Amino acid sequence: MDSKHTFTCTLSSGTNIACIKYWGKKSVALNTPINSSVSVTLDQKDLKTVTTVVASKSFEKNRLWLNGTEEDVTNSKRFNACVDGVRRMGGERRGEGKEVLVEKGGWGDYKVHVSSMNTFPTAAGLASSAAGYSALVKCLAEVFCASESYPGELSTIARQGSGSACRSLQGGFVAWRMGSKADGSDSMAEQVCNENHWPEMRAVILVISDLKKDTSSTEGMGTSVDTSELLGFRAREGGVVDRRMELIEKAYKERDFEAFGKVTMQDSNQFHATCLDTYPPIFYMNDTSKSVIKIVHAYNAWKGRVAAAYTFDAGPNAVIYCLDDVVDEVLALMLQYYPGRRLDGRYVRDGEAWGRARGAKLDEGLLRECDKKGRRRGIRGDVKMVYVTKSGPGPIVMDDGESLIDLKTGLNR
Ligand code: DP6
Repeated sequence: MDSKHTFTCTLSSGTNIACIKYWGKKSVALNTPINSSVSVTLDQKDLKTVTTVVASKSFEKNRLWLNGTEEDVTNSKRFNACVDGVRRMGGERRGEGKEVLVEKGGWGDYKVHVSSMNTFPTAAGLASSAAGYSALVKCLAEVFCASESYPGELSTIARQGSGSACRSLQGGFVAWRMGSKADGSDSMAEQVCNENHWPEMRAVILVISDLKKDTSSTEGMGTSVDTSELLGFRAREGGVVDRRMELIEKAYKERDFEAFGKVTMQDSNQFHATCLDTYPPIFYMNDTSKSVIKIVHAYNAWKGRVAAAYTFDAGPNAVIYCLDDVVDEVLALMLQYYPGRRLDGRYVRDGEAWGRARGAKLDEGLLRECDKKGRRRGIRGDVKMVYVTKSGPGPIVMDDGESLIDLKTGLNR
């Protein structure tokens, strides 16, 4: 490779789990949504995508390796929208002696090689596309020295990769404002609170299936927009979502878990109701997912307040938000009903939390309440894996030593 005209960056980005869901596109071409949404960006400790971008004049074409396997990106609208979009924002690149190596707007001859690895099951409903496209766009921005002409511009590019990805460019609690301009230039992410605002926030993730889902979000929301009247009701201007956005942003700013948790559960339920209202209907939750809902409500009833809040994306996996003062109890309760196929630290992907939850003694009244609310007997293997995590930062630049691409050959390692 011509090292004088080769530039690289490696970075990691986290996934995010929406509390007010994005479901439905206003413009398929621009990938703009029919309603605003908001999510928590999760810590990168366990769940992240690591991406390396190498840009070089000597590359013949753009190439992509996903989890080690090459994918043909020649006709990938999403991938190319990201590469071309960030390239257009490309700025001047200087060398160590401050000499100009590439002039502003001089990136036209550069092609990219990209390698991306997930540390979690791809396409299992853990928002891998959010982590993936946010990592890609941020990494391209570093390589092309892209600068935003207005705050949030980069997120309008990530949005074209995958809608939810725009929210992972920031840490903490992040809204995706749907925007109103015809060209989509104001349909972008905005940080509501950073990751240090509510440090007690935790997320317990139950991986109920690590298989690829049968109806992709893109396909599912297309059918929902075409057929679900409930979705139209939910997303209409000044309607349910607009009200909920206001309520939840206030709750998060004031660290009001009761209000945050209630609306999070209601919005998950309404999203899945619109899926059921889609014709033909889409089912993302399975019986195990539904039993988690019952247990969380039984737990809250026993607590006398909303202490835990579930949410489900386009798949059966449960994410339970709670605060750190109850996380051991919530985890212990989940382990009681979803014991896991192997009883070791590889089932709960957080050694400390696992140790604490194992030691926690669950109240008999609570167990009676949960049994009564109709949880069938815990079956080992219903839940494949459990993560305990918290909110975290946006993309983090890594050392070139961590590169997934061999910088001598320009190929995947
Ligand atoms: C249920 O962002 O994956 O997770 O824009 O078509 O790539 P595309 O869809 P995607 O949809 C996410 C849907 C959701 C809700 C959410 O994250 O807000």
